Amino acid sequence: MSRTIIVSNRLPTKVQRTEDSLTFQPSEGGLATGLGSIYRQDGNVWVGWPGLFVEEESEEQHIEKELSADSMAPVFLTESEIRDFYEGFSNSTLWPTFHYFPQYATYEQAHWEAYVAVNEKFCRAVLELAGPEDTIWVHDYQLLLLPEMLRKARPDCTIGFFLHIPFPSHELIRALPWRSEMLRGMLGADLIGFHTFGYMRHFLSAVSQVLGLSSTNGQIEMANRTVLIDAFPMGIDYGRFAEVAASEAAQQHEAEYRAALRDTRVILSIDRLDYSKGIAERLRAFEVLLQRYPEWREQVSLIMVVVPSRDQVAQYAALKEEIDELVGRINAQYRTITWTPIHYFYRSFPLEELSALYRLAEVALVTPMRDGMNLVAKEFVASKADNRGVLILSERAGAARELSDALIINPTDTRQLAEAMHDALVMSEDEQEHRMASMRALVRQYDVFAWTKLFMDRLAYSKIKQLTLATEMLTPEVTAQMVEEFRAANQRLLLLDYDGTLMPFHNLPQRAKPDQELLLLLQALTADPQNHVVIISGRDRKTLQNWLGHLPLDFIAEHGVWLRPASEDWQLFQPLNNNWKQDIRPIMEMYVARTAGSFIEDKDYSLVWHYRRADVELGDVRARELLNHLTFMTSNTELQVMEGNKVIEVKTAGINKGTAAARWLAAYNPSFILALGDDRTDEDTFRALPEEAYTLKVGSGARSLARFNIPSPTEVRNLLRSLL
Ligand code: UDP
Ligand code: G6P
Repeated sequence: MSRTIIVSNRLPTKVQRTEDSLTFQPSEGGLATGLGSIYRQDGNVWVGWPGLFVEEESEEQHIEKELSADSMAPVFLTESEIRDFYEGFSNSTLWPTFHYFPQYATYEQAHWEAYVAVNEKFCRAVLELAGPEDTIWVHDYQLLLLPEMLRKARPDCTIGFFLHIPFPSHELIRALPWRSEMLRGMLGADLIGFHTFGYMRHFLSAVSQVLGLSSTNGQIEMANRTVLIDAFPMGIDYGRFAEVAASEAAQQHEAEYRAALRDTRVILSIDRLDYSKGIAERLRAFEVLLQRYPEWREQVSLIMVVVPSRDQVAQYAALKEEIDELVGRINAQYRTITWTPIHYFYRSFPLEELSALYRLAEVALVTPMRDGMNLVAKEFVASKADNRGVLILSERAGAARELSDALIINPTDTRQLAEAMHDALVMSEDEQEHRMASMRALVRQYDVFAWTKLFMDRLAYSKIKQLTLATEMLTPEVTAQMVEEFRAANQRLLLLDYDGTLMPFHNLPQRAKPDQELLLLLQALTADPQNHVVIISGRDRKTLQNWLGHLPLDFIAEHGVWLRPASEDWQLFQPLNNNWKQDIRPIMEMYVARTAGSFIEDKDYSLVWHYRRADVELGDVRARELLNHLTFMTSNTELQVMEGNKVIEVKTAGINKGTAAARWLAAYNPSFILALGDDRTDEDTFRALPEEAYTLKVGSGARSLARFNIPSPTEVRNLLRSLL
């Protein structure tokens, strides 16, 4: 039976060392608490770090045994890995960058190297466990490289990736020296999920700006796969939180707290220690509340739980000091013998006690500067069976996209936050009930089980889609068969596209000159008189003549307009005229003016608008516009508009690579045909050839008429070499 292997840096159980033994406790943090409810189903396994450094092998074995009884497989990290991978790259580079604190980010090559090494370590651990049918679900920013590593080891494997933190604007991603590797790492997955549409949009634009890969409807075409990108706001185990809140234990704890606090009203704040959570700003806002509304003094207390986290990282240690100081100062200034303004706890609480706090509080303050989702907000809502209570929520938490009935605030606006606390404390019961009921319905419906199902269904869909769309990869077996047929044939026709097939693309087309290796290869291929080697290209004939004219090659230039059969002169496919150019050129010029980096190529009988050097997103938008514009202009004319790889071309209709290729078929009647091409214009060639021809599409997984797929010009050259 196939199962799901969940992989995250932190396991949902953390092992801690006491004086004489090891203890096993639930981990804090949204990822672990959120997924904790689903991983035990259906024989699933969770691979991750148990949270402490273990030196002794016997201790490792003990931990392994304990955890495996609860469906977990530990990956142990060495002390230096904890320092460089966990505290270093993960939490001093990625975490601050992704949460818009680039001023806290460090850029250490050694940390990056540890990050790569630990991702590899996770990769080995997963491969040991995962069968070929299993689904692998990788989580969060500590493992951005893992999907690609797994993909390399298991090309057909089903891999999902979910990011639990925000994905920032590409401007921040750009600052990272290792940005391309990170994005490529994520793209190893079949499906990449984010909490919000905003994060997804940022990711798509980073991929397009950094890697130059564009997307349509959240799909990115890779060399031989399509990757789906989508938004899945994560939910909580609503049932469990509602149940614990109704439990005897939680009610008892609540009664104890209430007795101790007497009739003081309670505002609650619960977070891990983290500068992204806006804890210090929140304290300042509470102070403003006490200053502006003295009537709340001795009436309201803030209960603030800060869960220790990453305290070896300098910024976290500094934040801890800042909070300690602020709490000390505010309490010293305002406290009375019978009232403490802030009850501050620097530790974690067991679930029943957390639940008692959620029950007790009238107001929850969830005011992060940035937060991927924030589950505390949802847990508070799930714990409010009587629909009383007010949630104050930062507009920069992912949860704000869903919980619009909260009081939504800007966390840097201290006054607004203080006012929101006041408004919450005086809110009518009717309004509280109304807001809370609608939030509860939403949190109940989109719980963590619904979230998992949505993600898994979409992952399965992405796999089915790939299988139905994909052109078969060229395997060594097919290659061997092809070479055999090639050798046996006496008339062989090789139709080779140039750009993107024999040569990789260059930003300036005139720079994509053939290199020595290619020239030698073509020379060797043409040395055999049984081979008819045709360069079939959209390039103008002068360029092809200059670059390759000295070789005994045949040429089809300008997508079939110009032909040069074996060492004859260039000839036109048919008589053509150019009168139309005077109407089309001004339109293209307008698009050049509006799209920095684009330019026009004027070929003998066609005009081409190139946009490879334009901003990727702008280029795509303008290309759509120009295409519509030109298609409209050329309807009912002799002209045709063609889309190629980052080009739009206008030329006389009825002539294309296919019509030209047909002439070569008729002339040679070959017993072996190989055609290679990378873009839409090559589809005309593929279409014109008989079924038994070897048609190969280079790169991109987009739908193709070709029989096989081959990744890039490098493999193309290897293939051609094997024919020698
Ligand atoms: N939490 C916990 N023990 C505590 C305090 C909090 O387990 O003493 C849990 C809390 O219930 C929530 C998680 O920690 O599920 C925090 O997740 P959130 O998404 O709010 O923030 P993150 O820590 O992931 O940034
Ligand atoms: C956030 C992250 C998780 C992480 C958790 C706790 O929720 O998204 O990946 O596990 O914080 O942080 P820690 O560093 O203790 O694992």
